[in-house]
Amino acid sequence: MDISVFGLGYVGCVSLGCLAQDGNQVIGVDINSTKVDLINDGKATIVEKDIDAIIEKEHQNGRISATDDTHDAVMNSSLSIICVGTPSLNNGHLNMDYMYNTARSIGKALKSKTSFHVISIRSTVNPGTNQVVGRIIEEESGKQRNVDFAVVSNPEFLREGSAISDYYNPPYTVIGSDNEVAINCVKDAFKSINAPFKVVDIKVAEMIKYINNSFHALKVSFANEVGNICKKLGVDSHELMNLFMEDDHLNISKAYLRPGFAYGGSCLPKDLKGLSTMAHDFYLETPVISSIENSNTCQKRLVFDKILDTRAKAIGVLGISFKAGTDDLRSSPIVEVIEKLIGKGKEINIFDNNVQISRLIGKNKSFIMEKLPHIGNLLKEDITEVINSSELIIITNPSEEIKSVSIPDNKIIFDLTRIQSLENHPNYNGLSW
Ligand SMILES: NC(=O)c1ccc[n+]([C@@H]2O[C@H](COP(=O)([O-])OP(=O)(O)OC[C@H]3O[C@@H](n4cnc5c(N)ncnc54)[C@H](O)[C@@H]3O)[C@@H](O)[C@H]2O)c1
Repeated sequence: MDISVFGLGYVGCVSLGCLAQDGNQVIGVDINSTKVDLINDGKATIVEKDIDAIIEKEHQNGRISATDDTHDAVMNSSLSIICVGTPSLNNGHLNMDYMYNTARSIGKALKSKTSFHVISIRSTVNPGTNQVVGRIIEEESGKQRNVDFAVVSNPEFLREGSAISDYYNPPYTVIGSDNEVAINCVKDAFKSINAPFKVVDIKVAEMIKYINNSFHALKVSFANEVGNICKKLGVDSHELMNLFMEDDHLNISKAYLRPGFAYGGSCLPKDLKGLSTMAHDFYLETPVISSIENSNTCQKRLVFDKILDTRAKAIGVLGISFKAGTDDLRSSPIVEVIEKLIGKGKEINIFDNNVQISRLIGKNKSFIMEKLPHIGNLLKEDITEVINSSELIIITNPSEEIKSVSIPDNKIIFDLTRIQSLENHPNYNGLSW
């Protein structure tokens, strides 16, 4: 395939070399003439294992060249991959100027092109960039998106220092697109890559790098804070974290990563508080660990505010224990929300098939009696009674009984757990989806 690569930095130079190595004819484009000259001399623009040999060989094979002439590059390719920089601005946002300038020059070039052209955004960009790039190209070219050209979001996952190996072994190749021709074009360009293709919504493709990199930064900072506490305690932090990582059920796993309501229960709040207090005793700053509880409190406040925004007076709560399949009410986040709603004069009815007041004992009973002394009057045995007497239904857990319930169209649903069978309800509201 004939491909143009815009931006000859880390991502662009690796893409240029690897796409050529895989048999494509590749033209690099950069506004920096030194980088253009380096490629045309058969030299890499970056320092990276194996890249010098790849660029030299593919230059000799006649499969790579570079230019500062966008028109020439667009006319001689069917796919343009944008790898220009998106550095931070002083206000923290990404600087999108290089991206939009590139879109403008590709748009101008497309004016005189008659065949369909695919533009792939490889840089890390703000959600919504794909639409803006499409609009800029339409304005500059006078052509129509998805008729004359398509814009795909196709983020890059390589890391400097292992860029070539990462290029060929990503976790997956993400294609955010609504255009079948463009999806197949990108699949063809990356067919030598050892990874499955994931065709997703455009904005999901645009968000994934932000989330990946923020999570990686969170992992580094969490591990560092753990290490600092361990050092004070004389605990070998690497032995500890090796053990931690061996738990692929709950630690290094898919557990606890679905957006939704706050955590609660008898263990997470207590042990987290214990760890951050331990750090405090050592005069250690642990901003990540110490902020987790605050984040959880914010989530409860968000739910409370959203419930108030509905202005509903009669509210039904489906699920009151801290998670499905238990009757444990200790530190159940919805209990705190209910307590505040009662304070605002709301009428509350609750259904939870695992919670029967007569069977509660010990700390569980004393916790709920302190928080909601009239819970006996609020808790109903019949889920339909709760639904029929409420304007707003809050769903806190995905128990089978709650999942299969039928909710009349005139009720408002506020789902904190995402029950997909309810998403077609006309008054359905998901917490964070
Ligand atoms: N570096 C990485 O490890 C890495 C990994 C994955 C994704 N990314 C993302 O990929 C993008 C590129 O990163 P990078 O590290 O390769 O950047 P870089 O700064 O090394 O290179 C960007 C290149 O774009 C060129 N450029 C700017 N405007 C241009 C224009 N109008 N036309 C043509 N070229 C233009 C610059 O001259 C420069 O050579 C960023 O969004 C970055 O966040 C980077």
